[in-house]
Amino acid sequence: MPVSVRSFAKINIGLYIGPPEMREDEFHELRTVYQTIALHDTIKLGLTNGSTGIEIKCRNPRVPQDESNTCYRVAERVMKTLKTRGKLTITIEKQLPVKGGLGAGSSNAVATMVGIEKLLKKRLEPLDRLRIAAEVGSDLPLFLIGGTVLGIGRGEQVFPLPDLPPINMVVATPDIGVSTPKAFAAWDGLFGGAKNGSGLTVSEQTSTLNRFSSEVYSWLNGTSFSAATSGVSARGGNRAEALLLDLVRTGIENDFERVVFTQFPELRDVKRAIEREGSSYASLSGSGSTLYGFFGSKAEAAKAAENLNAKDIPAQATVTLSREEYWKSIV
Ligand code: C5P
Repeated sequence: MPVSVRSFAKINIGLYIGPPEMREDEFHELRTVYQTIALHDTIKLGLTNGSTGIEIKCRNPRVPQDESNTCYRVAERVMKTLKTRGKLTITIEKQLPVKGGLGAGSSNAVATMVGIEKLLKKRLEPLDRLRIAAEVGSDLPLFLIGGTVLGIGRGEQVFPLPDLPPINMVVATPDIGVSTPKAFAAWDGLFGGAKNGSGLTVSEQTSTLNRFSSEVYSWLNGTSFSAATSGVSARGGNRAEALLLDLVRTGIENDFERVVFTQFPELRDVKRAIEREGSSYASLSGSGSTLYGFFGSKAEAAKAAENLNAKDIPAQATVTLSREEYWKSIV
């Protein structure tokens, strides 16, 4: 029986990039908070006996259909680890932008892993799941947790955080594909102080990383403190609002904005347009080009999306997805 898996998107709430000197590989040390959201692609999987191989089907020409596809790379490893033969067909029904900063390719790959387990009625060991995910890309492991997730290392070391309450939001998806490796290279060109003698020094960048940890800590903890002391309900909209106020106060930011907005100034304009619609917090997600904004209610988010679309900015209203909702809705 074929299986169908929802492959949810993520946003980054703050993303700090450390100096290249902090690691011995080609990667940058990161600090970020990932949050899964309700927008999703759908992955359909089928297995037939008699032949072997992996076939990727997708109507979107921007999605590779060969062995470079993250779904292919995960499927190959999962089939090998589970010692399974047969012809696997992976159909990707695309709704999410490609190279949009919503982690769609990574999410598709993890959905493929979950789907193969369901198809074969076999489970991978938890450590094999994590190993395969981290091998294929830095943004995959977060989708093995879902909800609100702390990401460190190259982004692949993930830790579940207490889930944020549901937050209504708008996601704007300008038709621009941003290359993540190029965005990192642009960051090094501008801020890789120790290497090119300009920008930030290694110790400045390292202390920024440390500041991120304390900002996340005060954001998450300061809120429960202010909510408790001000008598704000621990559930529902009030708590979401209190969390957002704290988030804005910490000034948590996405470092990629500093290079991506220079390269694509129209993305800065989209962020401003979201803010003008009354968003309490707006940001680039990952290296973009997606921008998102949080709103106080579903109606406000819907109205903002409508207004942005009227200005030719493709946008849709959605909501954040808790860990429990993520796993409940995935298959
Ligand atoms: O892990 P992933 O395949 O997403 O990374 C793609 C590229 O992005 C890497 O080859 C690297 O150039 C860059 N990258 C980085 N630091 C990270 C994550 C990715 O420099 N933390």
